[in-house]
Amino acid sequence: MPEGANPKAKIAVFISGTGTNMAALLYASRLPTANYEIVLVASNAPDAAGLTLAAEEGVAVFAHAHRGMERSDHDSIMEQAAKDAGAEYIVLAGYMRILSDSFVERWAGRMLNIHPSLLPKYRGLDTHQRALDAGDASAGATVHLVSSELDAGEILGQSDVAIMPDDTAETLAERVRIAEHQLYPHIVNDYTGRCFDAAWLLGRVRALALQLPEAEERESHGSPGWRTGGKTGKFFAHFNDQHHGERHIALLAKTSGQDEMTALIERDPDVFYRPKYYGASGWIGLILNRPDTDWTQVEHWLERSWQSVAPKRLTKLLDIANEF
Ligand code: GAR
Repeated sequence: MPEGANPKAKIAVFISGTGTNMAALLYASRLPTANYEIVLVASNAPDAAGLTLAAEEGVAVFAHAHRGMERSDHDSIMEQAAKDAGAEYIVLAGYMRILSDSFVERWAGRMLNIHPSLLPKYRGLDTHQRALDAGDASAGATVHLVSSELDAGEILGQSDVAIMPDDTAETLAERVRIAEHQLYPHIVNDYTGRCFDAAWLLGRVRALALQLPEAEERESHGSPGWRTGGKTGKFFAHFNDQHHGERHIALLAKTSGQDEMTALIERDPDVFYRPKYYGASGWIGLILNRPDTDWTQVEHWLERSWQSVAPKRLTKLLDIANEF
């Protein structure tokens, strides 16, 4: 990895058939702008053509037929293969299996799928014929997060494909496939790279900070910060994007003092650091630009920090709310 470059997200691609979307993802992963790498291509169909291609291309492959197995047992075998390969995300690309709820829950927010329709239209199968039968002017493809309801998770991106007068389900499928090959690598790249993206991180911190009572955003030393308690209120959080030559994008929150700060950094140096200047007055940095930021922990620190500066009339309210 070149110095200063972000680590690449590791993805396992699950396929059942030709694997052309897998191929598009693979070739895109070799571009200099790629935020992800494919660590495994896995299939429930040992003779899937995509497996041969992946192996030829030097990617690790795995196959296990599902016939005669309980759904959850087969899922576990596939999941274990992904984990053994070090996958942080599972990307379904023509993986024609419904997944068990527990598997989906364990990978919530880290499992993506591509579906050949403009969801929420035409979940399930035969999407192209259904679009033609309905007389739609356009069809398309959708990339979405996988949730327990089939083809119903949060939509991350869509591509429109015009329906032509003499289209059949086959000709339409072929053009939708071309659109998919553009869409999927693009969305996977954005999604796996956003944990290093300052604008995305700021948006997420901002949403959490502004949930706290009487929180308002104010610039402080050229960076966004949040304070509470009205005009004379105090800051409870700052957002630093690689300040003073530091490589971190971070949330700064108030600790009880130097002893606590030292203990936290010693215990968890991948998460905490002492920010320049601010560190001297008890502000700790929580590093956000890493693949596994714990957003519950970020929320906890925002709330704690807010508690430490908010006027009594406000902290009382939050204490009462927390009792319920
Ligand atoms: C793709 O068109 C994908 O959208 C679809 O299967 C095809 C796989 O093609 N997926 C589904 O229908 C999922 N419900 P590929 O193997 O050539 O990538």
